[in-house]
Amino acid sequence: MEVIAGALRATLPYFVYLLCLGLVCQLRQTHRRWLAGAQLRGIRDERERIARVLHDTYLQSVESLTLRLHACVRRMPSDSAERRDLTHLLDLTASVMREGRQQLQDLRAGPGAAGLAQALAERARLFHRDGPVRVSVLSSGTPAGLRPPVICEVYNIASEAIANAIRHAQADSVAVRLDWHGGALALSVTDDGVGIAAALLEQAGLADSGDKWGLTGMRERAALIGCRLTIRRRAEGGTAVRLLVPAP
Ligand SMILES: Nc1ncnc2c1ncn2[C@@H]1O[C@H](COP(=O)(O)OP(=O)(O)OP(=O)(O)O)[C@@H](O)[C@H]1O
Ligand SMILES: [Mg+2]
Repeated sequence: MEVIAGALRATLPYFVYLLCLGLVCQLRQTHRRWLAGAQLRGIRDERERIARVLHDTYLQSVESLTLRLHACVRRMPSDSAERRDLTHLLDLTASVMREGRQQLQDLRAGPGAAGLAQALAERARLFHRDGPVRVSVLSSGTPAGLRPPVICEVYNIASEAIANAIRHAQADSVAVRLDWHGGALALSVTDDGVGIAAALLEQAGLADSGDKWGLTGMRERAALIGCRLTIRRRAEGGTAVRLLVPAP
């Protein structure tokens, strides 16, 4: 009996030590989660502020400019070439307004998990307008589990990858895939273009990336939501961007 009691006394400090260690790990994990949550809440507040400013200044100004232009056009002779040109320009202004309003919508609420694929398809349409690149967006699995601020960052990362593929890759096609599985999401944006220069991949994230901020922003957003982002040249040609978002 005494032997057992002695053994217990001897091992008790180790038990207490392990218990404390477990508690400290748990506390650190909770603290990290709280910090990430606070950071995301801060981002959401700032996004809403930008959305308000964008609506009250830029969009209102473009809207009133458009109205005044419409009034000018109406005063022009109906068969004049100038009227035709200005009417065409006004059509473009309307699409700029649509784009602005879409941005505003994205800044405010962002698409939910279920609307992510459709929001990306619409974004792609805005980017390439009537360009020659084919963009496909495919989603598989059940979209669920991720918090709205995380979805917002995924959307922004994917948008930049799509914009880059359309602008820089000289690709015939761009494929966007969203694979949902058990609350996690794997996003990929691949193109069959010229392939991103290896030197650019090494430079990305460095302070001296000139006035190119897309790749840097993608990496920063991925780090913020604790996701793995890989950008690589594909062996079969083109570029592949992949983001793995773990289940919360
Ligand atoms: N899919 C791609 N295919 C080929 N080149 C690419 C691709 N994506 C990016 N690049 C190259 O990487 C460079 C950096 O991209 P990044 O998005 O950082 O800047 P950017 O698109 O030039 O400007 P912005 O700041 O408006 O995003 C691009 O200028 C382009 O040369
Ligand atoms: Mg870019």
